[in-house]
Amino acid sequence: MPSSSQHKATVTAPSNIAFIKYWGARNLKRAVPVNRSISMTLRTCVSRCTAAWLPDRGKHVIELRNARGVLAPAPPAFAERIRSHLNFLRRWAGVGGHFHIATENSFPAAAGIASSASGFAALTLAVVTALDRRLSLEELSSLARLSGSGSAARSVAGGFVEWPVGFSDDACHARVLAPAKHWPLANVIAVVSSGPKGTSSLDGHRRARTSPYFRTRQRRLPARLEAVREAIAGRDFEQLGTVIEAEAVDLHCIAMTSVPPIFYWQPATLVVLETVRALRAEGVPAYATMDAGPNVHVICLPRVEKLIAERLAALPQVETVIRDRIGDGPAIETRHLF
Ligand code: PMV
Repeated sequence: MPSSSQHKATVTAPSNIAFIKYWGARNLKRAVPVNRSISMTLRTCVSRCTAAWLPDRGKHVIELRNARGVLAPAPPAFAERIRSHLNFLRRWAGVGGHFHIATENSFPAAAGIASSASGFAALTLAVVTALDRRLSLEELSSLARLSGSGSAARSVAGGFVEWPVGFSDDACHARVLAPAKHWPLANVIAVVSSGPKGTSSLDGHRRARTSPYFRTRQRRLPARLEAVREAIAGRDFEQLGTVIEAEAVDLHCIAMTSVPPIFYWQPATLVVLETVRALRAEGVPAYATMDAGPNVHVICLPRVEKLIAERLAALPQVETVIRDRIGDGPAIETRHLF
């Protein structure tokens, strides 16, 4: 094993927002999705992870920066998911020993923004770098996906990303559709609830097929995927926006009609959606999308980002507004967390 990195590396990996969603799995444990998804990589919402490989150590040490800004042992359920991915990466690399992991998010940990995509992408890249492995984007994407957080497969790359390229387990990795500079879109996130969500996305994937609308959406997806690819290639904001808003509503229809049903939306979600429609009626180009939670991501062009952020921040139902942009993807850092 080469030792040039002293077996320690720090990587920043971004979160991403899906335009076409991953919802429903062929193999949930290995995060092999039923359908292709397309996302925009974010710039400001990132996870930073330091990984140190300790060939002689007896157990993994897993720390998370808490709300007080202090690195502390990660909560048990979160630590367990990380431990399981570390054990997988250790088998994949053919090494023994253990890892010391520390991770932090640039966005408030309890902001209700999916941190699993950025967190597991950062963890995977930091471990691979600490072990001095040089991998292709496809290989990194597959390894991140095998954390069980499928959307992490898209967070290893920047710009507009499609996943998967192929449906077999081996070919199930992301590819870049266009780099960030191709179309610098903005994402204004209206956080309406900062508490943890009631039903995990893993449970959502598990229940998705029980909805009578699951198949209907699957039938719509090839045309929708093509419309999004086309809109990105031609920088057609209206085409993109119309499709992504309908797609987000479909995901939530499926969630609400699953057995048992999942209601991620809150009254405040509808207030934000109504505001986005009002903005459009005033001629402001803005479209909404939501992941498996109540918060609303408003996709817009940078020239109207400030206006939208101000309108959303003025709503009493909105706790915080996060202004983000399309980003270039992960970066190796020189400053370690420990
Ligand atoms: O990566 P997971 O298992 O947390 O699932 C992601 C689900 C959505 O965020 C709702 C959609 C997506 O493609 O990101």
